[in-house]
Amino acid sequence: RSRIAILISGRGSNMAALIYASRADGCSYEVALVTGDKPQAHGLEVAVAESIAVEALDAKALGPAYWDKLHEVLKAADVDLIALAGFMRIIPDDFLARWDGRVVNIHPSLLPKHKGLATHEACLAARDKVTGATVHLVTPDLDSGEILGQVEVAVLSDDTAEALAERVLIAEHQLYPHIVSQFLGRTNDFDWITEKVGELAL
Ligand code: GAR
Repeated sequence: RSRIAILISGRGSNMAALIYASRADGCSYEVALVTGDKPQAHGLEVAVAESIAVEALDAKALGPAYWDKLHEVLKAADVDLIALAGFMRIIPDDFLARWDGRVVNIHPSLLPKHKGLATHEACLAARDKVTGATVHLVTPDLDSGEILGQVEVAVLSDDTAEALAERVLIAEHQLYPHIVSQFLGRTNDFDWITEKVGELAL
């Protein structure tokens, strides 16, 4: 099976969804490592309890050395793919280039709509009737990489940002493991991978 690392900054509910899905029959990946940028992230505790290898890196304390250290722990864990799951830090271009397009993210909107933060507020302000979640490849351009999968979630007339976030999160938990498993299940399809990496033009 392919090996993934999950990068988190906080709660880690998408991380948990990726871990639990990896235990189901037919899943193409295993979770080799959970790490992130904040040692106090709640998700790290969950990963430890689930007997997943955890590296609690502190980006603030490490300063500019953080990205090299992160690269080192990911290499040591021999991972095929990095899955960002509520990882709230902009990734430098040279780090992305070193991972050759093998970084994916989940974003709580139907990209290209509502990039960045406060997506549910933006969705309500735009009076969208439908929102959702997107899994995409991470490129130097924020929330703009190739879309690998999306799910729609209906917006209710009395929705608040919190209520919407809660339902979109349920959709995220279904979508993310499915798309990661599908993406890695195609690693023997060299033409497809070459095409994808070519499109990234890092
Ligand atoms: C999720 O909704 C995820 O889509 C979002 O943060 C939340 C993390 O929750 N990510 C972004 O907004 C990335 N720009 P979690 O820690 O429980 O997975």
